[in-house]
Amino acid sequence: MARIHVLPSDLINQIAAGEVVERPASVVKELIENSIDAGATTIDVLLENGGRKRIEVRDDGSGMSRDDALLAVERHATSKIRQFDDLSHVRTLGFRGEALPSIASVSRFLLTSYDGAEEHGVEIECDALTGRREVRPAARDRGTTVVVRELFENVPARRKFLRSADSEFRSVVTVVSSYALPLHRRSFRLEHNGRAVLDLPAAATLRDRVIQVLGDEAAGYLEEIDERYETAHAAGFVTRGLRFASRRNQYFFVNDRLVRDRVLTHAANRAADSFDFDGHPAIVLFLHIDTEGVDVNVHPAKTEVRFRDSSTVHVVVEHGIRRALGGAEEGGTLLREGPSLSGGQAILPAQIAQAGSPVLHRTATEFTPLFQQRAVVQPPHAMGAATLPEPMVDESPQLGDLQGRVIGQYRMSYILIDTPGGLRMVDQHVAHERVLYDRYFARAAEREPVTQHLLTPMLYETGAAESAVLESHLQELHAVGFLMERFSGNSFAISAVPPELLKSDAETFLRMLVDASIEERSPHLLRVREKVCASLACQAAIKVHRALSGEEMARLVAELLDSSNPYACPHGRPIIVDIKHIDIERHFHRK
Ligand SMILES: Nc1ncnc2c1ncn2[C@@H]1O[C@H](COP(=O)(O)OP(=O)(O)OP(=O)(O)O)[C@@H](O)[C@H]1O
Ligand SMILES: [Mg+2]
Repeated sequence: MARIHVLPSDLINQIAAGEVVERPASVVKELIENSIDAGATTIDVLLENGGRKRIEVRDDGSGMSRDDALLAVERHATSKIRQFDDLSHVRTLGFRGEALPSIASVSRFLLTSYDGAEEHGVEIECDALTGRREVRPAARDRGTTVVVRELFENVPARRKFLRSADSEFRSVVTVVSSYALPLHRRSFRLEHNGRAVLDLPAAATLRDRVIQVLGDEAAGYLEEIDERYETAHAAGFVTRGLRFASRRNQYFFVNDRLVRDRVLTHAANRAADSFDFDGHPAIVLFLHIDTEGVDVNVHPAKTEVRFRDSSTVHVVVEHGIRRALGGAEEGGTLLREGPSLSGGQAILPAQIAQAGSPVLHRTATEFTPLFQQRAVVQPPHAMGAATLPEPMVDESPQLGDLQGRVIGQYRMSYILIDTPGGLRMVDQHVAHERVLYDRYFARAAEREPVTQHLLTPMLYETGAAESAVLESHLQELHAVGFLMERFSGNSFAISAVPPELLKSDAETFLRMLVDASIEERSPHLLRVREKVCASLACQAAIKVHRALSGEEMARLVAELLDSSNPYACPHGRPIIVDIKHIDIERHFHRK
């Protein structure tokens, strides 16, 4: 690696300034980036108490000479850029010369390094509490180790903001997985409290690495993304037929740098939503563009980027994912009729950024005029809401109207009811979800689980962070009818499930539950119970696109009427949509 030098002050002023050390995960991020920049092929991360107590990152990279190591802990000292021009084609992950001194200023910091050339290595110890710094010779193989203990010990106000050890640990799992994804030839390991929780040995192919990170179950569902448009190239993988309740399995990289970016997420999710609105596929997307086409110097943590031509980026990503999800034909159609290419009416990514929230492009034919005028979802408390164009006097549907006559099923998904007020549509899936949710919740509250024993117990294998979440939910899972316990490592043995749930749906349910809970910081019992019941209800409920007999429909509607809230499902989705009779009449010019 090039020699380290202190940057000139005018260049320092050009660099996005700010604090990068917020929590253990950000320390791990900065240290891993340094190891990667140093060409390390083996990177080991060791944590104690989610990193609150101790973080260690070891690598076998280039190492540093004694003089360089001393400079490395000084502010604005870097080996990665020299002059202003370098900022426009940064290839390394770091370039600010800020990370090590920032970390050293809020912890007990120990750096050991050997460059393989000098007589021996060097060890530098910095104690933020006392300001003491010691430099000693050290014996070690080529590479660098940084140990960070008692993060924020000297800044109690910041330490207070750290989350629980479990939650900090899960963030670190995400960081290590993310950095490992694009670098499949390098090996990454993560140990927590002495236990190996992530072991990603060098993989032969990128696909193998993606499977190591997403889990074996993803293997059968991975579709390759490979799309070029103008100077941009989108590559990677998306799961077809396997979806998750959250977007946490979506990783976006720009020139191998992990980023959070609205243009990318919007393009990806628009592509995914055009196939199925339920859940989110796992996506590992690598966007390669000219370094001049992207500005990485936007935010000190460098997780935000700015694209010079965001519409090209949007097209290549949306197109690439669509093609992977739908086959060659789908992707081709998009490029011919693609919104960003069709000119005038398209909503371009730049507008999305301005609008503040993603705007979906819709063609005029997607809405019938009827729905445009009066798409009325009527939760009881929102009747006559100001959003309606005209006040609706004394026509507000009453709960009793649910008893109207079932007259059929629309698209094998919606039950149609003729009510005194007009035509009522009930979404069969969410209606059933509401009924089941109430049922599970009552059983759990009364501790009267109903179970169905499996002939052969099933094993559920999951990741490190996931198994910690499941473990903390075991009691509530028992309360709704699961008999399960930790089997070994990260696997659980399940011997009974609630009777409404098919055995084959149990895995999907557990995955959904973990997805829904993993970001939770301090799980309260009631929140856990709600999540368990909601995920279970969603999984066990009848699906859309399923024909129902008249009797089944009538029974479901009757049960819905008895439920705690027939208007909204536990996730807040509407169950009932009413079209007023008067609107139907007006539509036919009868009024
Ligand atoms: N693990 C490592 N192996 C070899 N050299 C390292 C290692 N970590 C840091 N260095 C050297 O120390 C310098 C300072 O590291 P530091 O992380 O503070 O800044 P940076 O990586 O240059 O920029 P940034 O602040 O954006 O991370 C680096 O430029 C690099 O030369
Ligand atoms: Mg760095």
